[in-house]
Amino acid sequence: MALSLYFLVLFLHLIPSVICQVKEFVSIDCGGTSNYTDPSTGLAWVSDTGFIRHGKAVDIKNPNGDSPQYQRRRDFPADRNKYCYTLSTTERRRYLVRATFQYGNSVSGDPYPKFQLYLDATMWSTITVLDASRVYVEEMIIRATSTAIDVCLCCATTGSPFISTLELRPLNLSLYATDYEDSFYLAVGVRVNFGALSKDPIRYPDDPYDRIWESDLDKRQNFLVGVAPGTESISTSKNIKITREFPPIKVMQTAVVGTQGRLSYRLTLEGFPANARAYAYFAEIEDLGTNETRKFIMQQPLVPGYNNVIVNIAENANGSYTLYEPSYMNVSLDFVLSFSFVKTRDSTRGPLLNAIEISKYVQIIPKTQSNDVMTLDAFHSMPPGSDWIHEEGDPCIPTQWEWITCSSSTPPRITKLALSEKYLTGKIPDKLKHLDGLTELWLDGNSLTGSIPDISNLLNLTIVHLENNRLTGPIPSYLGDLPSLRELYVQNNSLSGEIPSTLLTGNLVFNYDGNPELIQGVQHKKNFKLIVGTSVGVFVVFVVFILGSLLLLCNLWNMPAQEKSNDKCNSLHTISKPSTSYSLVHGGSLMVEGPDVAYYITLPDLEEATHNFSRKIGKGSFGPVYYGKMKDGKEVAVKILADASSHGNQQFINEVALLSRIHHRNLVPLVGYCEEAHQHILVYEYMHNGSLQDYIHDSVDQKHLDWLSRLSIAEDAAKGLEYLHTGCNPSIIHRDVKTSNILLDINMRAKVSDFGLSRQADDNLTHVSSVACGTVGYLDPEYYANQQLTEKSDVYSFGVVLLELISGRKPVSVEEYGAEWHIIHWARSLIRKGDVMSILDPSLAGDIKIESLWRIAEVAILSVEPHGGCRPKMQDIVLAIQDAIKIEMERQRNYTRCSRSRTRQSPHISLPSNSLETDISNFSGGCTVPSAR
Ligand SMILES: *[C@@H]1O[C@H](CO)[C@@H](O)[C@H](O)[C@H]1NC(C)=O
Repeated sequence: MALSLYFLVLFLHLIPSVICQVKEFVSIDCGGTSNYTDPSTGLAWVSDTGFIRHGKAVDIKNPNGDSPQYQRRRDFPADRNKYCYTLSTTERRRYLVRATFQYGNSVSGDPYPKFQLYLDATMWSTITVLDASRVYVEEMIIRATSTAIDVCLCCATTGSPFISTLELRPLNLSLYATDYEDSFYLAVGVRVNFGALSKDPIRYPDDPYDRIWESDLDKRQNFLVGVAPGTESISTSKNIKITREFPPIKVMQTAVVGTQGRLSYRLTLEGFPANARAYAYFAEIEDLGTNETRKFIMQQPLVPGYNNVIVNIAENANGSYTLYEPSYMNVSLDFVLSFSFVKTRDSTRGPLLNAIEISKYVQIIPKTQSNDVMTLDAFHSMPPGSDWIHEEGDPCIPTQWEWITCSSSTPPRITKLALSEKYLTGKIPDKLKHLDGLTELWLDGNSLTGSIPDISNLLNLTIVHLENNRLTGPIPSYLGDLPSLRELYVQNNSLSGEIPSTLLTGNLVFNYDGNPELIQGVQHKKNFKLIVGTSVGVFVVFVVFILGSLLLLCNLWNMPAQEKSNDKCNSLHTISKPSTSYSLVHGGSLMVEGPDVAYYITLPDLEEATHNFSRKIGKGSFGPVYYGKMKDGKEVAVKILADASSHGNQQFINEVALLSRIHHRNLVPLVGYCEEAHQHILVYEYMHNGSLQDYIHDSVDQKHLDWLSRLSIAEDAAKGLEYLHTGCNPSIIHRDVKTSNILLDINMRAKVSDFGLSRQADDNLTHVSSVACGTVGYLDPEYYANQQLTEKSDVYSFGVVLLELISGRKPVSVEEYGAEWHIIHWARSLIRKGDVMSILDPSLAGDIKIESLWRIAEVAILSVEPHGGCRPKMQDIVLAIQDAIKIEMERQRNYTRCSRSRTRQSPHISLPSNSLETDISNFSGGCTVPSAR
């Protein structure tokens, strides 16, 4: 019953999303003759006849398998042209573009083709067919820069270019967002499903984005060799909670495990060495016993800073059957990638791996200047148009259109237009004036009519051929002023009026024969005309000026209104559509998001959730924080970033993309974000128990934390910081670690907040902003002195937090510490004297084992060493805290045993500090063996 209900829910979620997604998919069967639905995937394929007018469809003899897409291919001539498919896109949306190539058996015995594939002006791949029966797949993940992309084939070195399928799959949310997407595409290298149940890849409908997940059983390609002994496949049918990059559940339900403690693979990465984005997908899919652990490290490749990072999937993912996806956003990899995971000594189970995905960064090559392209389009659409060659794709890259010449600059400019004798009719397009890189204009021998258009700003023109057309009207006088003009041909037209005298100076070749109505100017008549012309001209300029200022005024008037009417937070819509986690399907687009994905929240929704920002619950490092309750009942903390103007929207969006990728049970999760012209807002999960600061310094509420609770809070917070330092790439330095940034959830588990935002200060790290980056009392003096920020600055601040936890005192106070004013000086001098009990919070006295206290005191004092190099790493701190916890738990076990025979002393009674030591030793004398250290 429960199961069928579950399927029903799943079903209801899938149906509308499947339909929406499929509607947005473009699946082109190149060379195909009809439109059809592929029964195996349910995808609708269309023939490419509506997309391309070149090439010929070729039947493939004995195609491999019976996929309808691979019954035919489209071949293109092996000439100097490129052949392009143009696909419509939404600007700034991310897409997966996939081209596949299956040559099939060649009848003619021609050599197998080798040619190039381009995406716009960017070289995508060289297609080299070595095996006619293999389907070669190329995938690129892009963020569309305009309303269309061109996929082009060209430059065959053997055989002729061909293509089998072309597919466009829109992506949602921040899927595949990278910090580099303005300048780099992502070419998918490998995407492997480990522990696969069959050799077939997993794709749509299992993957709603139709990514292809290769099976690790598919040994066709030269990949996945060097498999470690003891590698076994496992699978589960349980649901897996997935988020972020959304690997399909079916992929996550299978995995390989290294039963002998090791997993290793070697595979080849086409197109490498390169810089890559690499993801590993993990989910614990075995039910481990309570005493069992699965911990491992990556031994290979040696990525600096990652050799000691211990993966503990269930812990990192905050539970079994939940996705954990560590990634390297920019790692340099070779053609051959060997990788291995090795279990740690204290782990009971060997490593596990569900899937990997590695993509290479491909630098985007700028397309020809858009003004130039627009002008060429105007020529393209001149009647009769189709009489001369129609070419596709970028005019200049990788090969130039036949009728133009391009500069070699970046981006390229059009320098020559060669349209002599192309049977053009109609007027010369006015847009010609935008081609300001033009040096040669050849429009002779057509049937062009109308007057010579304004080309006064084409200052580089040297040669102009307009002869043998039917042009009318005057010869513009500015032609004589074009600085580079050397040759001007206008003969055999119907031009009229006076010939400008500046053209007759003999400085340039000028042919105006065969225009019967042209007259050479008479001096005095010309002067008269000039005067009239000038005064008329002045009047016109005046009127234009007045009109212009009126228009400008109106525009200013309208501007705020326009901005207001704009959909709020408009600029973000293009990145990820607004959605809420309580409606899985929103606005017709698929949202497979789980509760921990940052999504876009509109300002009105936030105003409603927070009752117009009425309940302020705190002030974070970057601005005020308000309590809110979303429509679905989720409680949130809404943080308004002060000073939104100092970082641009793009930067904010990058931050959000970064933050929503950072997930750890000890970090406060980002729920969503909002961005408006002057406000940047982040929405976090609400932490019911407030901050650690409230607990240890708020004397009003008398909240009490015993030693073990303090230790476990310290452990949680330290793990969160450790993750920021070592689990993120690039590593993140918090910069503002303090008790008010350590929050406690409903179960009193600690989570670190306000991380990641600190990156925003990077750009203009002035003296002022750097001071603002820390809080007095927690600020690393070394960082303060030389502005060198390292992880050790966080360690320093965390040392202060530990001292607060021990003592229950504030970090800075003249009353408490006198001239020393700082907790560190006070604590250090006492600890040096061996008097650790004197720094202990009086409310803890009598309820603590001194060894456990010493362990924490030691590591705290080391953490606040003046020199960063002497301070421990967060990992060491975590170990010390865990030690202290072990010692304390032991004491409590003994204590329980022993307390049966005596009345338990209340731990809440505060004792005068001078009587502490005697009390403790008296007390422990009966139960445990005290030892000073
Ligand atoms: C990756 O890192 C390298 C070396 O640090 C750098 O040159 C490159 O620009 C970075 N980004 C990409 C996308 O390659």
